[in-house]
Amino acid sequence: MERILVTGGTGYIGSHTIIELYKKGYEIDVLDNLFNSKITVLDKIKEICGKKPGFYKIDLCDFDAMNDLFKKNKYDLVMHFAGLKAVGESVEKPLKYYENNVGGTINLLKCMQENGVNKIIFSSSATVYGDQSVSKFDETLQTGVGITNPYGETKHIIEEMLKDVAESDPKFEAVILRYFNPVGNHPSGLLGEDPNDIPNNLMPIIMKVSRGEIAELSVYGDDYPTEDGSGVRDYIHVVDLAKGHVAAIEHMKPGVLIYNLGTGKGTSVFEMIAAFEEAGKKKLPYKVVGRRAGDLAEMYADPTKAKEELGWETELTVGDAMRDTIRYLNSL
Ligand code: NAD
Ligand code: UFG
Repeated sequence: MERILVTGGTGYIGSHTIIELYKKGYEIDVLDNLFNSKITVLDKIKEICGKKPGFYKIDLCDFDAMNDLFKKNKYDLVMHFAGLKAVGESVEKPLKYYENNVGGTINLLKCMQENGVNKIIFSSSATVYGDQSVSKFDETLQTGVGITNPYGETKHIIEEMLKDVAESDPKFEAVILRYFNPVGNHPSGLLGEDPNDIPNNLMPIIMKVSRGEIAELSVYGDDYPTEDGSGVRDYIHVVDLAKGHVAAIEHMKPGVLIYNLGTGKGTSVFEMIAAFEEAGKKKLPYKVVGRRAGDLAEMYADPTKAKEELGWETELTVGDAMRDTIRYLNSL
């Protein structure tokens, strides 16, 4: 049985992935500094799957503490979710993002090297594709050009670092997973997206509007060249996303593998509002405002490569994600 260290494991995507990993019998430890998550998430995981991961409150930037952990425990693989992800904040505080995301990952890779751990799965983002003259993005497209914020740059730099490490070390195995737009939560409603940071993503904002914490949703533009004029994205249920990680583990080999994780289907902001209203049986207040700087009109994944090589594809819909989000909101 393999033992996995999950960095950022108390966070939104990490916690959902742990549930899928437990189903496959992996042994799990979590490393997180709890900057954007709560330790109580581990109890929710226990409630859902009867098992609780080992937990280490360690910062990626603390090389010595992390290295001690690697010396004490023999890990077979690292799943690297930990990172800061607030796009707006990254524009205001770029060095914080480079230090945490890039600096933290350098520390992690050094610890892995020093302690003979060769396998890593990295949470990247569709943002590495930048602005291109297409709507459907496949892995052969160029990356790193036209990225509009430091957060996105950190993802691109880390991808390049992983490729360089693989060049230098024939035993190194990395999988880069480029997430499109993760939404939803575990169907039990016990676990969900509960960020401490200021959300600028659509779903956390919809959730805050629904709870009355924000008066109304601002729809960033209704004049895009899309069917209804609002922005179109590929919203992937976080449980499907989590399963993509399990599929990736099973197909690792020396070198770097890169996969889009998305549904292949675009959904507009207005369609997201309608889906939320239908699932929640109530109106969601919104107003249309101007476009947000740096936003693309339309972006969705070509998920063919993951289907062909990993045997993975999404099974859940935006409607499922909205149903599960409502369950989570009702449990709060
Ligand atoms: P999250 O904020 O819920 O989880 C990230 C976790 O990392 C948090 O628990 C946080 O406390 C921890 N962390 C941050 N910096 C750390 C550090 N220096 N040391 C230790 N722990 C640290 O975010 P998420 O949505 O679960 O995202 C997971 C990963 O997926 C991130 O790398 C993110 O950039 C990437 N990603 C997310 C999305 C999305 O929309 N949610 C999209 C594409 C990529
Ligand atoms: N939107 C609104 N109002 C809001 C927030 C968002 O109308 O208050 C719209 C956006 O304009 C966009 C869509 O909802 O059309 C989705 O916006 P998000 O901010 O949720 O997601 P993005 O696709 O802009 O960006 C996300 C992550 C990035 C990641 C990127 C690609 O925030 O980190 O997906 O994976 F890089």
